[in-house]
Amino acid sequence: MTARIIDGNALAARVRGEIADRAAALSARGVQPCLAVILVGGNPASAVYVRNKVAACEKAGIRSLRFDYPEDVAQDVVMDRLAGLNADPAVHGILVQLPLPPQFDEAAVLEAIKVAKDVDGFHAENVGRLSQNQEAFLPCTPHGVMKMLEAEGVPLAGAEAVVIGRSNIVGKPMAMLLTNSGATVTVCHSRTCDLAFHTRRADILVAAVGKPRFVTGDMIKPGATVIDVGINRLPDGKLCGDVDFDSAKEVAGLITPVPGGVGPMTITMLLENTVISADRAARAAGK
Ligand code: GUN
Repeated sequence: MTARIIDGNALAARVRGEIADRAAALSARGVQPCLAVILVGGNPASAVYVRNKVAACEKAGIRSLRFDYPEDVAQDVVMDRLAGLNADPAVHGILVQLPLPPQFDEAAVLEAIKVAKDVDGFHAENVGRLSQNQEAFLPCTPHGVMKMLEAEGVPLAGAEAVVIGRSNIVGKPMAMLLTNSGATVTVCHSRTCDLAFHTRRADILVAAVGKPRFVTGDMIKPGATVIDVGINRLPDGKLCGDVDFDSAKEVAGLITPVPGGVGPMTITMLLENTVISADRAARAAGK
């Protein structure tokens, strides 16, 4: 069997077109959606992500504000900036790019973001709301994966889903979203004994481990849907995922490539959350 490849770029382009229309309609009502992005330090991957986020905003008609701080900046400086952005009615979304340098208390920074502007969905209140299956801003990568599964018509209720990775950004919220959709979810991680025993049972396998080509074809159930969240840079400069695409595609039924799979959907969901927040602000202001 050779898997069908999910085209994340095509889905992202379609959804971004709808988002741009909504942004234009809001701007016409006098409320241009606006995202503020904070980047601390010189992590090269973070710099690329932030650049891509800002560029995607511009293309969608969303205003962006970018704040860059040196690696050794004091946490208070960033907290003061967050307080200003929280209070600014023209700002609808606030994002602090992670990871932060070691002098930061990451949880405290994320909780300093106003819940209504937490378009990354990382504030403890939004995480709690997600865990209770209440409406919340959803973290962008797992939300993008859910959109892909929905667009591809992958059945979730009753499916066996296995998530490899237990990070706050991807693994844990991914498991919660799949659980909320009726899947039976197993979360595997670096301490899991006999990983392949679990992955071979998965109808839906989500790899978010951060290890290049870690999941091989022999670990996959024939016909499974394989979602690769990994973005790893190889010594030759090329990108690859956490899944060994060449062997996996011979076993899976559906598979996402890297690049061109989950990645484009992550930023798309960030844009969508920003527009949703701006729409709520416009309604609250009677516009
Ligand atoms: N670092 C890696 N992924 C993300 C993300 O989705 N949002 C933020 N803020 N930081 C990240």
